[in-house]
Amino acid sequence: MRPHALLPLLGLVLGAALPAQPLVIAHRGDSWRAPEHTIAAWRLALASGADVLEQDLQLTSDGRLLVLHDETGERTLRGADCGGAVRDRPLAHWQRCDAGRWFNERHPDRADPAYTTERLVALEAVLAAFPTARFYIETKAPESAPGMEDSLVAVLTRARLRTRDAVRLVRVRLQSFSEASLKRLRQLAPELPRIQLLDRGAIPAPTATDTLPAAQALDRIASYAQGIGPSRLDVTPALVAMAHARCLVVHPYTVNESAEMERLLEAGVDGMFSDRPDVLRHAVAGRPSPALPAHCAGR
Ligand code: G3P
Ligand code: CA
Repeated sequence: MRPHALLPLLGLVLGAALPAQPLVIAHRGDSWRAPEHTIAAWRLALASGADVLEQDLQLTSDGRLLVLHDETGERTLRGADCGGAVRDRPLAHWQRCDAGRWFNERHPDRADPAYTTERLVALEAVLAAFPTARFYIETKAPESAPGMEDSLVAVLTRARLRTRDAVRLVRVRLQSFSEASLKRLRQLAPELPRIQLLDRGAIPAPTATDTLPAAQALDRIASYAQGIGPSRLDVTPALVAMAHARCLVVHPYTVNESAEMERLLEAGVDGMFSDRPDVLRHAVAGRPSPALPAHCAGR
């Protein structure tokens, strides 16, 4: 890697060139007020003051990257043949499905007739729709979608999100529950920051008498990633301190209650995923972004 390519990565880790507050990461957009992973949800998120927009990826039968959380359409899609496995049909099929009606049915208090016009979006279309936004992109179930990482990096390259300026501005962060997927992304696009998502309980809780299991897990992650995304339920001040000592930022998921946001901010997290970016924006107001130790500079 060229030396200049390291500087923006440092910016991510230290929070430089970002708002001087913990990150407001809109989980699937403003998915409290609009159907998740739709243009409406991402627009609302930005209007609410989100710093970063999240996307989950699924690979279609014709090798396109569709932004959708689930591996099937059953929960969030309506229309003919819209309930099956994403990998069995091409992008054009999925884009005929209604991506908003389910939200109106499930949340009548937040319903909007306009949501029934929302359609699923290919990753490149999301990137083009928000030309100055920051994105936090997850390779979802990559073990059953061979080639997902290669397709993702190709899309990012075409969208000019791997240029020196884009990296300096931290336009893209990559995330996955899959260590193998993150390591593949490191091979393909080493300049882009990677965050290891962690299932509930994946990191043993550090205690006053035993920090070794957590230390070993974090040491391993620090060898290929720049951050962790733990379940909010696993976050303690001790875990955050141990992550920071290893130059890992901490972005827990998914935090929708003000009291829990406050608890996590007190624990020292660097930002968090929330369905309610408007609520989180209020919670982080006036809170300085945590700084990593000096030895993280240049990492
Ligand atoms: O990516 C952070 C968080 O979104 C992980 O959980 O299931 O909502 O993708 P999930
Ligand atoms: Ca996700």
